[in-house]
Amino acid sequence: MTENLQLNTFYSIMKILMVCLGNICRSPLAEGILQHKINALGLDWEVDSAGTGAYHVGEKPDSRSITTAKRHGIDISEQRARQFTIADFANFDLILVMDASNYHNVLRLSENDRDKEKVELIMNFATPGRNAQVPDPYYDDNGFELVYEMLEKACEALIGKYAV
Ligand code: 4NP
Repeated sequence: MTENLQLNTFYSIMKILMVCLGNICRSPLAEGILQHKINALGLDWEVDSAGTGAYHVGEKPDSRSITTAKRHGIDISEQRARQFTIADFANFDLILVMDASNYHNVLRLSENDRDKEKVELIMNFATPGRNAQVPDPYYDDNGFELVYEMLEKACEALIGKYAV
């Protein structure tokens, strides 16, 4: 969990990886929202996204995520899905997962406490300690706007916590 992380103490770059199951619905939205805020604020941060599963590797985000982002002025259509790898623990400062299943799938690949400390449910930035989950909208056409709004709040809180 992030309480033990000493982020931004010696450097200002934050590298953040958004993770869901397929990397086509939720984490591409999370990446797009955070990237949009990073650009607007001129922050020296990096953001990427990945899925714990390999089903959609190489694909564009789900068309419903692309449409939802576009409605909010964000273009995520150039993203391509990739699978989470063990190397991501070394390459990112924070690994933000959408739900408990993602959390356990990522932790299963961790090799030490430092890896584990990087992994957090993204909604714990918006509502600390509540372990709220971002619902999987894959089988719910109406779920995408709620996912967007939850991720918007989480990204805003993340920036409020770490942007210096
Ligand atoms: P995501 O949603 O994890 O938010 O990208 C899903 C995408 C695809 C599947 C499940 C969830 N799937 O089963 O193919």
